[in-house]
Order: sequence, then structure tokens, then C-alpha cells
Amino acid sequence: MATFLETRRLRLRRFTEADEDDLVELDGDPEVMRFLTGGRPTSRQEVRDHVLPTVFGFYERFDGFGYWVAEEKQTGRFLGWFHFRPEKEPRDGEVELGYRLRRAAWGQGYATEGSLALIRKGFTELGVERVIARTMTVNEGSRRVMEKCGMTLVRTFHPDGLEAIDGSEHGEVEYALGRAGWRPR
Ligand SMILES: CC(C)(COP(=O)(O)OP(=O)(O)OC[C@H]1O[C@@H](n2cnc3c(N)ncnc32)[C@H](O)[C@@H]1OP(=O)(O)O)[C@@H](O)C(=O)NCCC(=O)NCCS
Repeated sequence: MATFLETRRLRLRRFTEADEDDLVELDGDPEVMRFLTGGRPTSRQEVRDHVLPTVFGFYERFDGFGYWVAEEKQTGRFLGWFHFRPEKEPRDGEVELGYRLRRAAWGQGYATEGSLALIRKGFTELGVERVIARTMTVNEGSRRVMEKCGMTLVRTFHPDGLEAIDGSEHGEVEYALGRAGWRPR
């Protein structure tokens, strides 16, 4: 797999062990974690024992897919990450898009810029047929990114075992974009 991908302002690269501190800091911001855990941070132990091994596992199992660190090209600053990966039970040609950025980076179009680049790579180089993305129904910012990437709402659903956090009573939404509906920009 190519180990990095560049956009106008971003450099997306593979994770390394050295990203532990930035991950702990990212997940330590309750606003970042609001629609994921209700604000609870991820402990350093969890990052070390679960998050990073999961990320590295994707690199071994799926060529070209997985998790990407997003850095600001000009400064090298860690902005957060994207994932573009098959789901737990992979369906042929389908990948799930996701993103998590530091609060300081929000509102500048970075999530859309990185997502568009991954979607393009998926459809043009990786044989992807369909991209999906899910978020809490009330996560308006995340939904807006999906819409700006040309994805459309497929369903609202109430997954079993969803953590009871503020807004979870409204369930989750799933957006999708098929290769046929994709318009390169
Ligand atoms: C979701 C997230 C990745 C968006 O990143 P970003 O770089 O700010 O996204 P962009 O700038 O590309 O686009 C955000 C869009 O949502 C809009 N938006 C943001 N918050 C909003 C809100 N509360 N209500 C309505 N729209 C909102 C922005 O105005 C922008 O739309 P616009 O360009 O039409 O103005 C970022 O907020 C984040 O990391 N959140 C925490 C983690 C998270 O929730 N991840 C998704 C879990 S599935």
C-alpha cells in the first residue's frame, strides 16, 4: 500500500507507535468525544493496548485500506485521523469512511478535503464499489461532511447496545455513495 496520500492542505500517512501521545490528546478532548462516548476520554492504556493494535491490524490484513493520520502539510502538525476500511464483517467492494479531528482544526474544510481524497482513491484505484459512513443522528457536523462528499442518507437506525449518551435516543444515520453516483471533483 502507498503509505501516504496528499491533498491541497493535508498529508495522510500511516500511523506509527510514535502517534500515541497525539491520539491520547485527541481523545482527551470531551468535545471531540461528545458523539462517540458522551465525552469520556480514551485512556493511554486503551490507545496502547487496543486502538493502535487495531490500526496496525488493518495494515496487515487489507492492502490500501485502514487508518490514516492527517497532518497539516505546511507545518507537519497532527490534525487527527481518517479511516477508510472494510467493516468488521467485510462486504465485497464496500468500505466505511470515518474521521476525527482536533477541535482547533474544525470548521476549515479539512474533514471534507481528506474524505474526498479517500473516496477518489477508493473508486479510482482500490476497486471500491460503495462507500458508507455512519454517525449519531444529532452529529450535524459529521452529517454535513458526508453530504458535502456527495453521500446521501440511506437510513436511520437504532443499533443494539448503543451507549446511552446525550442524543443517542435519536439513533444513528447511515449515508452512502456508490461508484455510479460518484462525480469526480
Ligand atoms: C465531524 C468533524 C470531523 C468535522 O470536521 P471539519 O473539518 O470541521 O469538517 P468540514 O469543515 O469539512 O465540514 C463541516 C461542516 O459541518 C458544518 N457544521 C459543523 N458543526 C455543525 C453543527 N453543529 N450544525 C450544523 N452544521 C455544522 C460546518 O459548517 C461545515 O459545513 P459548511 O462547509 O457547509 O459550512 C469534526 O467536527 C470532528 O472531528 N468531530 C469530533 C469527532 C466526530 O464526531 N467524528 C465523527 C464521528 S462519526
